[in-house]
Amino acid sequence: MRKKISKILVTGGAGFIGSEFVRQAASQGRKVFVIDKLTYAGDLGRLRPVRGRYKFYRADICDRKQVDAVFRQVRPEAVAHFAAETHVDRSIVEPASFIRTNFEGTQVLMEACRKQRVKRFLHFSTDEVYGEIKIGRFSEGDRLRPSSPYAASKAAADLLVQAYFRTYGFPGVIARPCNNYGPWQYPEKLIPLAITRALRNQKVPVFLKGQHLREWLYVSDCAEAALELLDYGKLGEAYNVGSGQHKTNINVVKAILDLLAKPYTLIAFVRDRPGHDFRYALDAGKLTKELGWRAKTKFSEGLRATVCWYVNYCGKKKQHI
Ligand SMILES: NC(=O)c1ccc[n+]([C@@H]2O[C@H](COP(=O)([O-])OP(=O)(O)OC[C@H]3O[C@@H](n4cnc5c(N)ncnc54)[C@H](O)[C@@H]3O)[C@@H](O)[C@H]2O)c1
Repeated sequence: MRKKISKILVTGGAGFIGSEFVRQAASQGRKVFVIDKLTYAGDLGRLRPVRGRYKFYRADICDRKQVDAVFRQVRPEAVAHFAAETHVDRSIVEPASFIRTNFEGTQVLMEACRKQRVKRFLHFSTDEVYGEIKIGRFSEGDRLRPSSPYAASKAAADLLVQAYFRTYGFPGVIARPCNNYGPWQYPEKLIPLAITRALRNQKVPVFLKGQHLREWLYVSDCAEAALELLDYGKLGEAYNVGSGQHKTNINVVKAILDLLAKPYTLIAFVRDRPGHDFRYALDAGKLTKELGWRAKTKFSEGLRATVCWYVNYCGKKKQHI
């Protein structure tokens, strides 16, 4: 088997999933370099456990000069690309920054990779590129039908990575994970929002009646899949990263309230998000078959660990996070 990648440049390494990837890669003794603009969603505190074992560059992936300068210094063997604007609701209010970072930023990075002859580029996409599915599960060959500006910006980037592969033989691999959860997620997404609001006895907003169905993947499982794909994913290919664990939003919120011993009266049903996908579901068989990866964490265990982490973190901070 080919050797694992030893020198990785990680974009968005101060974000939720990127930081878990950095913690795992650095703990394995790989040389890790991080580019992050540190938007509202970036926080270097997430990298405290591996302090001194990575090098940080504050840079915007849309800025060619900054990106080229970092690539010249680092000369990465591979790039793991997590940096993105990620919140669907924000993309509905202000789509331009999503197109800039998620689409144009990806192109800037791919050009820098071509100049420096980077060997592998893991593009972190999302299950949202497929849009919703009423029954069954999406496979990698299915059509991309994104519903939100966020999902469209990610789908556009996927197509560009595939076009670069066909046109230039660009060494891209695409990961399409389902919804992640776990410690350190910025509390605008469902699970950390519900936990942090319930801890303060504030209402927890849930779209419609909470019947939307999502597939949930614990963040450490996702980062393990990302490392496998970076090392051994087939160039030019896309891979679904799913857990097979589906829950309606209302059941997720009720499980959180149960763990915190809070009443269901905290739930506030709110008007639905425009273009809201009803159901996502992935077939992750390709990743299991080719690389042997499977999600390990049961949702009930991952959720308990996540709730404990926020209780501890909010207790220490004594302020809203
Ligand atoms: N969180 C999920 O459930 C989920 C699911 C599927 C796919 N994804 C994808 O995984 C990746 C990581 O998601 P996340 O939840 O960790 O995101 P996040 O919002 O927690 O972190 C994004 C990081 O990117 C940085 N960033 C944003 N714009 C930048 C720019 N222009 N230049 C440099 N850095 C910039 C931010 O500072 C932040 O550190 C994203 O590409 C996202 O689309 C996320």
